[in-house]
Amino acid sequence: MRKLLITVVGLLISQVMCAQDYSKQVEKLLKKMTLEEKVGQMTQFTSSSDVTGPTLRDNVEKDVKAGHVGSLFNAVSAEYTRELQQMAVEETRLGIPLLFGYDVIHGFKTIFPIPLAEASSFDLEMIKGAARVAAEEASAAGIHWTFAPMVDVSRDPRWGRVMEGAGEDTYYNSVVAKARVEGFQGDDLSATNTVLACAKHFLAYGAAQGGRDYHTVDMSMQTLHDVYLPPFKACVDAGVETFMTSFNEINGIPSTANPYLFKEILRNQWDFKGMVVTDYTAINELIPHGIADNLQSAGELAVNAGIDMDMEGAVFLNTLVKAVKENKVSEETIDEAVRRILTVKFKLGLFDDPYKYCNAEREEKVTLSADFKRKARLAAQRSIVLLKNENQTLPITLSNTKKIALIGPLAKSRKDVLGGWKAKGSPKNAKSLFEGMKHATAGKAELLYAKGCKLSGEDKSGFEEALEVAKKADVIVLAIGESRVISGEAKSRSDISVPGVQTDLLAHLKQAGKPIVVVLMNGRPLTLEREDELADALLETWHLGTMAGPAIADVIFGAYNPSGKLPMTFPRNVGQIPIFYNVKNTGRPFNPEKPSGYKSTYLDVPNTPLYAFGYGLSYTKFEYSEIKMSSKSTDNEITASVEVKNVGDYDGEEVVQLYVQDVVGRSTRPLKELKGFEKIFLKQGETKTVTFNIKKEDLTYFRWDMSEGVEAGDFNVYIGTSSDNVKRASFTLTEGFEVRKDNPVKSK
Ligand code: BGC
Repeated sequence: MRKLLITVVGLLISQVMCAQDYSKQVEKLLKKMTLEEKVGQMTQFTSSSDVTGPTLRDNVEKDVKAGHVGSLFNAVSAEYTRELQQMAVEETRLGIPLLFGYDVIHGFKTIFPIPLAEASSFDLEMIKGAARVAAEEASAAGIHWTFAPMVDVSRDPRWGRVMEGAGEDTYYNSVVAKARVEGFQGDDLSATNTVLACAKHFLAYGAAQGGRDYHTVDMSMQTLHDVYLPPFKACVDAGVETFMTSFNEINGIPSTANPYLFKEILRNQWDFKGMVVTDYTAINELIPHGIADNLQSAGELAVNAGIDMDMEGAVFLNTLVKAVKENKVSEETIDEAVRRILTVKFKLGLFDDPYKYCNAEREEKVTLSADFKRKARLAAQRSIVLLKNENQTLPITLSNTKKIALIGPLAKSRKDVLGGWKAKGSPKNAKSLFEGMKHATAGKAELLYAKGCKLSGEDKSGFEEALEVAKKADVIVLAIGESRVISGEAKSRSDISVPGVQTDLLAHLKQAGKPIVVVLMNGRPLTLEREDELADALLETWHLGTMAGPAIADVIFGAYNPSGKLPMTFPRNVGQIPIFYNVKNTGRPFNPEKPSGYKSTYLDVPNTPLYAFGYGLSYTKFEYSEIKMSSKSTDNEITASVEVKNVGDYDGEEVVQLYVQDVVGRSTRPLKELKGFEKIFLKQGETKTVTFNIKKEDLTYFRWDMSEGVEAGDFNVYIGTSSDNVKRASFTLTEGFEVRKDNPVKSK
């Protein structure tokens, strides 16, 4: 009884602690700090490894001891972070602990599928669970803060960083953002297995002109508000503790110097209390952007725009004291920034025990644990998208297959499956497709292998040997795609086809006359018209992480029935970009059934993509009933339901998708907007009813005059298996709803 009482009281105390207001402690500490010490807290440096830009300093340890650093990133391991922490705590005047950050994007050592792949699962619990594992592992290596999730809406597959996010849709990015923030941060930041999350990159980084990294963004304020801001708002609502600026400018102002973004939207309108860090040397880059002519004015612009911490650039460190003395920056502005930084340190519990995350024993125990690998394998299975499956080529049934030819430059790769931003993931711990298939076929079928060609270049000298191997087999599995280093930051491509002669190899193997399963590994949507024509089955496996090989084998041999759907449109050719599903109709919409006339289309390619947003097949088949609306009209909310039946030969999962169209608005509206989805499991022959609730608050948008609301009128409702394969119904909204009539751009 006594024990129970103590536990309950303990629990209560810890809950009170969680919700604790640290302002008194923060103010007390702030009072003791010199201006130099404050500016030191606003400074972040990289440790020597894993940099994503030029390293500006070579002796960070000296900086730490001098009190010039509030945070370090890229320093990992319980032992190393303890060493550095000791310098801050024991060798500086006030002993303020350091904050350790790192890009834990899709796992720390146990690498999960790249975020775009995970997004293909449409499984929010799984996505949250993957972030949880990443936080467990990273925090055990001394990390307090991950620079994730990236929630940039990404509509241009030329941009290499599409691999880091959840794709092209605003609603979907928002729900995935919430799952990831909750996964990283858990419900108690002071626990040793949670990390601070960071919503990045604020704002519109994914809209860089031509898909070229770091390039200019010029867009309407409506699009900014309707499309690019909501995923960041979702992060704030989910309790995200930090934000990162973006490298790009928007309509003439670089984000890192933009008070409208950070002061007006983030702090005033959204009431965000956490801290804002710049992207890597983004303050220094205000000079080449052409908005500051020296570092001091760059620093002033950034801090006065509401930025709290300078990543790597040392601009705050070198210029802010002078700027305050010259009255260009108020001391109150500095105090505000330092308050936010100290508050997250208090929330993490670093002032109680600065070494609480540096626990070598825990690090040893949790890292790459069997449970994490099992979760990574399940996540990888669920991230695979089946793009084509003629004549039920897949799954390969081992009972009637004697020999399988595994061919291709990615078949044996353990490093490429890790994808971009692999943190401390190592090929040593990863499993290739070859290993996965070898294990699955052991004692059942013979696995033959040929490389065929390299990932790039023109060399076709391996083609004949590959064809000979293919001829001996009953079925060919060909692993082709992108190496891990051609997607990610600064990895834009103007040609997004499968590189080198890999597709020629596919064409060459046709001569064997055997069914060909193409396993694609890549970090972005590719142009796949030739592959689609030549392959009997096509599996999009992205870069699936540590357990890629076994997971792909699970799908190939039917241990897992694929259920992924594309979170980004796959164009037919690069000339179609930008191409995404929720476009406007135009005044001259093209109708393929009546193609003549002056219509909005190309002479040389259809308007449709090769694979649409939300597309993905299963080994089984699903049949959708017509949509049933709860009524014909509403002044507030309404439900739409369908019955989905598994009419095929396998048990399987389906992602049932809801789209809505506002037929006539005060401003024009997209043809379809995703407003909900549900992933359901259906046994063979089973039927389930899926019901969506549509509320009028979910239908608001920004008009031309920047007022926000929804108007009375007719709405179409679409439910189906992909954005281009849906049933339709409609309803009338009898009463509109205004969120705001004023202009949020001007409001203060
Ligand atoms: C990237 C950020 C990343 C940072 C730190 C930058 O180049 O844009 O996303 O968090 O580097 O590695």
